Amino acid sequence: MPNAIEKIQEEHRDYGRVLNALRTAVKSLRGIEWRRQAGQEPDAGASYKSLLDLLFSIVYYVRVFPDKYHHPKEEDYLFKAIRARDPASAGLLDQVAQQHSVGARLINELDSAVKAYEKNYPDGLDVLEAAAENFVASQFEHMTLEEEKIIPLGKSALNEGDWGAIDNAFSGNADPLFGENLEAGFRALHDHIVNAVNVAE
Ligand SMILES: [Fe+2]
Ligand SMILES: [Fe+2]
Repeated sequence: MPNAIEKIQEEHRDYGRVLNALRTAVKSLRGIEWRRQAGQEPDAGASYKSLLDLLFSIVYYVRVFPDKYHHPKEEDYLFKAIRARDPASAGLLDQVAQQHSVGARLINELDSAVKAYEKNYPDGLDVLEAAAENFVASQFEHMTLEEEKIIPLGKSALNEGDWGAIDNAFSGNADPLFGENLEAGFRALHDHIVNAVNVAE
């Protein structure tokens, strides 16, 4: 299998972990809100401030890795090569490229919702929940379409030379949240995701 396919699938898996962490963080904020309304102290481990920090870190991550490297490289290399070899795939390729634009809009909406919630606390949680769910659902839907339709199309339409250029482009991706390129600024989010997985296991 071309290295780029493995790399794309690996980046999708990791992105899925981030999206699940986003969903869980928003659920925890709702839990804190229920307890606040009931006049109870929040759980020691579910601090409002640390959850907001996590959300800001997730928004930042989406902008500096998937939106900056993963999606653009799909468009500039994988989609472009398939489009050249298989003109009949244009409609599907337009659809996935459009999903990249929608994702960029939805991450802006999520960013605004997190900021508004921080500013207007305790107001704004409903909007934040909706923005988070819209974003997460859109991203899972997008990755499923790529894995179920685009990658198989690439496998059937592209030759070794095509894949060489795509492999080369994706081999330069250095995810700042997972693996050997973990950046200090993402340490807290990384540990949160890894610990959450360990607890679930
Ligand atoms: Fe994509
Ligand atoms: Fe993708």
